[in-house]
Amino acid sequence: MTSGARSSQEEVSAHIGNVVRSEVNKNADYNLEEWIQTRIHISKGETIMDVGCGNGKQVEVFSDLVGDNGKVIGADIFSQVPGLLGKAQEKLSKKTNIELIDHSASVPFPQNDETFDVITSCYSIYYVDDVRASLREYKRLLKNGGRCFIVGPAWDNSREFYDLNQDVTKQDLPRNFSDRLWRINNEVIPAAYEIFARVEVSPFVNRVFFEGDEGVKAVEEYYRATLLFQEDSEQQDKRDKFAKEFVRRVQIDVDKTGRYIIYKRAIGLTLYKD
Ligand SMILES: C[S@@+](CC[C@H](N)C(=O)[O-])C[C@H]1O[C@@H](n2cnc3c(N)ncnc32)[C@H](O)[C@@H]1O
Repeated sequence: MTSGARSSQEEVSAHIGNVVRSEVNKNADYNLEEWIQTRIHISKGETIMDVGCGNGKQVEVFSDLVGDNGKVIGADIFSQVPGLLGKAQEKLSKKTNIELIDHSASVPFPQNDETFDVITSCYSIYYVDDVRASLREYKRLLKNGGRCFIVGPAWDNSREFYDLNQDVTKQDLPRNFSDRLWRINNEVIPAAYEIFARVEVSPFVNRVFFEGDEGVKAVEEYYRATLLFQEDSEQQDKRDKFAKEFVRRVQIDVDKTGRYIIYKRAIGLTLYKD
């Protein structure tokens, strides 16, 4: 494992969470990839790297945007997350302009200076050891005129969901979980202003709807897959009880309004090399 990376238990949780999230996002009212494109305007023929690409959700879209003359590299710590590479390969099997590489964002990349038109990292930068070093590395890898797009959770992401968890468990958010929520504000934004010539900060709110009985089931699956649930290790023996109570409370909302809503709040940073 690379220095500072998480334990394999955490990696597996992140992977499961990632897969469940992409299912859950089908019920969202805002499309993350479309929003990204409004920020960075990927064109045909461009060369892109997506860091922390997971199962390839963004890579798949970027592949279409750059077309046959462009190229997309998807980087992730594949060798540390069992099954992730297979998932990405399956999703991207029909694409011919994609390369998946097993590489941690916590260490320098092997590519030459000025290789990429665009570098993106979605819901991943808060896992690296040294955000400043990563951003410097992205700047090195960008061509002149290149841009970088980073998106991660805002400090108040899914606030209502976490508040419900707190109410049910009577526990504060796990420390490393809440720290991660603040990393965009506290570390990434200041470092971006220091390193890049121009920075645009844009908020994004995505409502994810869970409707009827199916919705309640999906919320339970989502809750159990989140690191929030996984990381509550001090309360291992009580986790099923928490999940049951969590779902009971969600059901009350669904009975009243027909649905439960998670408000995913994110912050996007568009960073210009020059
Ligand atoms: C929440 S997922 C996001 C995946 C994808 N970008 C998306 O938005 O659907 C975070 C991803 O970051 C990856 N990751 C974690 N630490 C990493 C590191 N040091 N270098 C590269 N990727 C990393 C995880 O394996 C996981 O696939």
